[in-house]
Amino acid sequence: MEMKIGVIKGDGIGPEIVEEAMKVLDRIAEVYGHSISYTQLLMGGVSIDVNGVPLTDETLEEAKGCDAVLMGSIGGDAKTSPWYQLEPSKRPEAGLLALRKGLNLFANLRPAMLYPELKGACPLKEEIADRGFDMMIMRELTGGLYFGKRSTQTENGVTVARDELTYSEDEIRRIARRGFDIAMKRRKKVTSVDKANVLDSSRLWRKVTEEVAADYPEVQLENMLVDNCAMQLVKDPAQFDVILTENMFGDILSDEASMVTGSIGMLPSASLNETKFGLYEPSGGSAPDIAGKGIANPIATILSAAMMLRFSFDLDREADAVEAAVSEVLKEGYRTIDIMSEGMNQIGTKEMGDLISSHIR
Ligand code: IPM
Ligand code: MG
Repeated sequence: MEMKIGVIKGDGIGPEIVEEAMKVLDRIAEVYGHSISYTQLLMGGVSIDVNGVPLTDETLEEAKGCDAVLMGSIGGDAKTSPWYQLEPSKRPEAGLLALRKGLNLFANLRPAMLYPELKGACPLKEEIADRGFDMMIMRELTGGLYFGKRSTQTENGVTVARDELTYSEDEIRRIARRGFDIAMKRRKKVTSVDKANVLDSSRLWRKVTEEVAADYPEVQLENMLVDNCAMQLVKDPAQFDVILTENMFGDILSDEASMVTGSIGMLPSASLNETKFGLYEPSGGSAPDIAGKGIANPIATILSAAMMLRFSFDLDREADAVEAAVSEVLKEGYRTIDIMSEGMNQIGTKEMGDLISSHIR
């Protein structure tokens, strides 16, 4: 197969971790007889430095011309980076939002699971960690508060800021369908998370989700209020299979879920539209404090590349091979510093990429 992959290395640790994921992809291409061409795309802080804006129209068009995009991370230290002296619409994050919207990437998949080898990193009580967990957070990514009208203005001498939260039934239906489709391939449970005791948009969310559920009689639907969900994630994460939720709640809950795994450097993500196109990136941030030191964990990015093989190219065997290689390297006791524990063998970013590549069969 010929794969045309856009690459956004981005800021901070982005370039280092993407390099390792490309190494693994190249190894897959070699072993399984595929050909990959990479198109480098600038987005985030590096794009501001070169082009003055975090995402140019040309880059967006180039991204559209790729089969899929692999991304590292964007953004810098908000206290020290000059990028954050710019107005909000010109900062690195605005590039990411424009990319999501421009590519219509409405479905964001963020798995959060406890690796048996990394149980010790889980900050929860042992009896909870022992039960393990494996959930998929499905976050709506192109609607809600993130893309509503905003303004800050003075009214009668008082400054007033507004952010509008809008969802149409169509936006809810398409993400709900995706959530139920994924649940069918997993443990057939959807927990739809909302704030229906307060918000109109949540009441519509619940109504439409229940309608969609009727088409999936095998899937169990449970509605949960977001504040309760935040508690349940630390009390009993094993109860969750697919968590289906709107943009802002998904942003918050996915960070919480990743923290509960204790190893955010391990968690990939995919952002999908109606086609096979997807944007794949690690769940963690750009970690400017450790950028360039060669110690960042590339596994989340490597697993994001595996998700790309699976979702954008339907290469399940190849995706399995990447995931198996990661597990083997962990079983052999190799760790980057973020997941290091006593008795293990600490290695750097490059060595981790090399080891995983060499385990691809
Ligand atoms: C994420 C990030 C982004 C978001 C930021 C960088 C705009 O936190 O992908 O979760 O809020 O969506
Ligand atoms: Mg976030």
